[in-house]
Amino acid sequence: MTPEHGGIRTPGVERIQAAPAFGADEELDRSLRPRRLADFVGQQAVKDQLTVFIEAAKQRGEALDHVLLAGPPGLGKTSLAQIVAAELAVPFVQTAGPALERKGDVAAFLTALEPGSVFFVDEIHRLPRALEETFYPAMEDRRLPITVGQGAGARVVTLDLPPFTLIGATTRAGLLTTPLRDRFGVTHRLDLYEPEDLARIVRRSAGILDVDIDDAGAVAIASRSRGTPRVANRLLKRVRDYAEVRGAGHIDRDIAEEALDLLEVDHAGLDRLDRDILRTIVEKFEGGPVGLSTLAVAVGEEADTIEDVYEPYLLQQGFIKRTPRGRVATAAAFEHLGVKRPEHHAASLF
Ligand SMILES: Nc1ncnc2c1ncn2[C@@H]1O[C@H](COP(=O)(O)OP(=O)(O)O)[C@@H](O)[C@H]1O
Ligand SMILES: [Mg+2]
Repeated sequence: MTPEHGGIRTPGVERIQAAPAFGADEELDRSLRPRRLADFVGQQAVKDQLTVFIEAAKQRGEALDHVLLAGPPGLGKTSLAQIVAAELAVPFVQTAGPALERKGDVAAFLTALEPGSVFFVDEIHRLPRALEETFYPAMEDRRLPITVGQGAGARVVTLDLPPFTLIGATTRAGLLTTPLRDRFGVTHRLDLYEPEDLARIVRRSAGILDVDIDDAGAVAIASRSRGTPRVANRLLKRVRDYAEVRGAGHIDRDIAEEALDLLEVDHAGLDRLDRDILRTIVEKFEGGPVGLSTLAVAVGEEADTIEDVYEPYLLQQGFIKRTPRGRVATAAAFEHLGVKRPEHHAASLF
């Protein structure tokens, strides 16, 4: 995600919507993270179900069933996992798929869990395939077969594990193997947030950060946050900077819109890379279809990032469509870019 990666990037303008949270963003995530279910805005169906399962687990004095949380980055998967642990009043232990390399890594985590713990595996789709099998018996009947010794003297001992709840988070549920997916008792897909929910999140975050913002200002930020709470929080922070430098620190609609224009987030909530993607499909590939990897090379971004971070919003807003032969720009995309769509165009088939 370096500047030289993307062809047409203005130096000095910070990227707003990159996938992972690093450094200051991670700090921001932490400080604004909802701690209890009641603070978690929106996603009502998910909250209702989790409330029942948590209550039932507490009444029975058992560990909650394993939970899989799927959805694009920044929608609250990590927050929800931590909330589940807080609501159950159990320890929260966290790792990530790519951090687990050998069976011993998994064993070290699992055998050290206190009974009832939430064991959170972020990016679980990036767990090495060979390790998935280690999880099957652990998830199913809390057994962990391990090999001790080497060569002819090697034998398998089975360790008993404490009761625990595995919570897996993934941006790509489709990459999980069926046997692993089937071992989660509960699966939730988080959807992009409605503008009203995002406005609530902006107001909540403004309260925590002590930012002076009115309702119209919150709505302006929310409507350009591509359905994503993490983006809403980042934009709030940048808009606050602008409000302090250009105004008296108060954020109303005008200040928010000026700041967002400066940040090159347009009225549809698209940032520069979103528009690069659309422009590439529309201009270089005449509206498509164009394959993901070709598109990725053309815009100078990782294919995974395009698929996980950018496409969900472009699809939801109806700017692109996925077809068996690749991505296609819709009439709305041509219109948004102010490009006239040629007649008898491939895109008009879709
Ligand atoms: N439903 C929500 N209500 C309030 N804030 C939220 C919600 N979902 C996400 N956030 C905010 O967005 C940030 C990113 O959420 P996170 O749980 O890290 O997303 P993910 O793990 O899916 O990438 C959190 O720190 C929090 O501030
Ligand atoms: Mg996360």
